[in-house]
Amino acid sequence: MIYTVTLNPSVDYIVHVEDFAVGGLNRSSYDTKYPGGKGINVSRLLKRHHVPSKALGFVGGFTGNYITSFLQQEGLETAFSEVDEDTRINVKLKTGDETEINGQGPTISDEVFNAFLEQFSALEEGDIVVLAGSIPSSLPHNTYEKIAEACRKQNARVVVDISGEALMKATEMKPFLMKPNHHELGEMFNTVIDSAEAAVPYGKKLIEQGAEHAIVSMAGDGALLFTKEAVFLANVPKGKLVNSVGAGDSVVAGFLAGISKQLPLEDAFRLGVASGSATAFSEELGTEEFVQQLLPEVKVTRL
Ligand SMILES: Nc1ncnc2c1ncn2[C@@H]1O[C@H](COP(=O)(O)OP(=O)(O)OP(=O)(O)O)[C@@H](O)[C@H]1O
Ligand SMILES: [Mg+2]
Repeated sequence: MIYTVTLNPSVDYIVHVEDFAVGGLNRSSYDTKYPGGKGINVSRLLKRHHVPSKALGFVGGFTGNYITSFLQQEGLETAFSEVDEDTRINVKLKTGDETEINGQGPTISDEVFNAFLEQFSALEEGDIVVLAGSIPSSLPHNTYEKIAEACRKQNARVVVDISGEALMKATEMKPFLMKPNHHELGEMFNTVIDSAEAAVPYGKKLIEQGAEHAIVSMAGDGALLFTKEAVFLANVPKGKLVNSVGAGDSVVAGFLAGISKQLPLEDAFRLGVASGSATAFSEELGTEEFVQQLLPEVKVTRL
């Protein structure tokens, strides 16, 4: 089974306003809302690839109920831990430019967190746990390490798509997969990476330090897959970038869908890249049909 963890999910409220006036009454020309959070995106994309998963994390209040019922309506399994305060709302104000206001999210008590951690002792060998997104301020900095340790005890595999301080410790978690973009990879090694060529030595270091697979995505400039044996380079399909939210999560989901369908590694990688681009070229997450349409455009070469 694949489990996804979203520690601080959100209801994303997307509001388009023409001629936005600060301090005035503005009326939206279009607005919509959907559940936000990297782990949740991975679960939703897996579902589109017909791969089951269970979404874990913390939800609370009416916004939390909205997320749970939205995902259940899409046919996803959820096992969220309930907190007292409301799940946050993140505002994406589109006025030509995009202005974002992200909420802080609810406080997670020690009691709720410990009960949440307890769930991982029921994992089975071979299960996959996807850790993605930021750690809320009420949880300790080593939260992901704690979860990874609990997973390892059960011989479950961990996938990490995290940033900031937690990313620095990611290889110590001996992840099955990590997926930094080239900026994050650069931050890990205190350097700036601006090409696939420049990324190669650092991607190899992720494997030397303990990752089993690493995908380094470079937005419109392709992606690299590192394994113990080889390095692969993929191009990305051509198209118009519509939305970058969830593109990285879609790469993770596509790759994992390929792995669970027991595709050869290179084909799982192609599926990941095509999924990323399908989302990048869509208003929301890419559909399975769109992924299949883009798939022939993705060529993988062994370096
Ligand atoms: N301009 C683009 N053209 C084609 N594909 C793109 C483009 N931008 C992003 N993608 C697709 O999305 C994938 C992930 O993009 P990116 O490297 O920006 O990830 P990320 O920074 O981790 O994203 P996220 O914001 O979701 O964390 C790429 O590997 C590619 O498949
Ligand atoms: Mg990312």
